[in-house]
Amino acid sequence: MTATLESAVRHFRHRRRPSPYPLALVLVIAWTAMFLTVPHIRIGADLRQVALFAHLAALVLGFGAVLTLDWFGLMWILRRQTLTTLVRVAQVVHTPIWLGLAGLTLSGVLLAPNTSAPLTVVKLVAVLGVALNGLAAGKVQQRMLALDGATPPRRLLATSVLVATISQAGWWTAMLVGFLNAQD
Ligand code: HEM
Repeated sequence: MTATLESAVRHFRHRRRPSPYPLALVLVIAWTAMFLTVPHIRIGADLRQVALFAHLAALVLGFGAVLTLDWFGLMWILRRQTLTTLVRVAQVVHTPIWLGLAGLTLSGVLLAPNTSAPLTVVKLVAVLGVALNGLAAGKVQQRMLALDGATPPRRLLATSVLVATISQAGWWTAMLVGFLNAQD
């Protein structure tokens, strides 16, 4: 690799991402707007079928990408993958995870969840938690990248495990409540 290309790659790796706080505020505002809008949504049976299909397709896309990332995380902990591979995978799955979450929210709004049911509120709060945690995960990823393959400090390791655990807890909570509600 030429020196210019190497310095370009280094610059890309170390470039500062925008602060996650304004994005977190946008997410909270969008979530509140969604929560207040859904009680007023009414759709026909045909469109509901389409929305349900879209919901499940978005679930496959988003959660499939999350599971791929967490699997690579586990392989890294077991020393079967390098940190560089894990961080690369994290960069690649970033887009399908956010697309999946957006698809779940748009199709979920059309499915008109009953926001007066406590379990549904738990699900929607879990979805907000997943989204906010996703911003924190981006920050962790940025710090891992800056290590350039060196062993991460304990604190960063603990944060990345915490972020992955919160993500799994949020996704499984939303999935379980969705499944339970669909039984009614
Ligand atoms: C991490 C995000 C989410 C996951 C993993 C998830 C998962 C699921 C699952 C597994 C089902 C059951 C489908 C079936 O068996 O027929 C479901 C149904 C449903 N989901 Fe979601 N969902 C998510 C986000 C959302 C959001 C953001 C909304 C609303 C804005 C929503 C609203 C609904 C509704 C209304 C149903 C139909 C059952 C009911 O009446 O509550 N979901 N979801």
